[in-house]
Amino acid sequence: MINWEDRYRSGDTPWDKGAAHPALASLSPLPVPAGHILVPGCGLGYDVIALAAMPGVTRVVGVDVADSAVEAATLKVAALPQAQIEKADLMALPSAHRRAYDLVWEHTCFCAIDPSLRNAYVNAVADALKPGGHLLAVFFLTPWDSPEENATLGPPHGCPAEELDRRFAPRFEIIKTWEVPATYPGREKREQLRLLRKA
Ligand SMILES: C[S@@+](CC[C@H](N)C(=O)[O-])C[C@H]1O[C@@H](n2cnc3c(N)ncnc32)[C@H](O)[C@@H]1O
Repeated sequence: MINWEDRYRSGDTPWDKGAAHPALASLSPLPVPAGHILVPGCGLGYDVIALAAMPGVTRVVGVDVADSAVEAATLKVAALPQAQIEKADLMALPSAHRRAYDLVWEHTCFCAIDPSLRNAYVNAVADALKPGGHLLAVFFLTPWDSPEENATLGPPHGCPAEELDRRFAPRFEIIKTWEVPATYPGREKREQLRLLRKA
């Protein structure tokens, strides 16, 4: 298992691009009503800040397990009353997060966790959403070049679209799946956007 705190402390953070995911610009306004948003594995909080600026958004909570990320992100959002960062494990969220959110924004948390935790991820996100809430996700399907590498290397861990269908089906229905309109250099054609509704 990765020690995320060690990665932040040593500066070994290739996922940190210093800016929100470029697709977020095209997702404003968000495709579904989303007053309260959860960002699991928020890192340094760039997506939290971008989401907090979107119309109709009243509260964005970023959670992360790494102290250094939480500290840095907390400083970044200090001037934004609608944004908040908490140290928390997505798989063991405090009860205050239960059924608390209209939307969960997924970006490089699902691909970061060990694949053995994928069902736990699905349940954690579903449990955090209000009934009928949505998961808006940019999934990193193929971070590596070959199917073998995507199945064995990571993080980031690749995940075929068919596995996403199967994993999320018990708790979500797929509303829409589409190509990522803009991404960071090097991730072109490797990601997929999905909008899912909690069943
Ligand atoms: C690949 S990084 C991505 C960070 C951020 N989304 C970004 O793109 O810059 C994965 C993040 O998820 C966090 N993380 C890993 N497992 C987690 C868990 N179970 N609960 C909450 N955060 C987690 C790590 O500490 C790390 O900040």
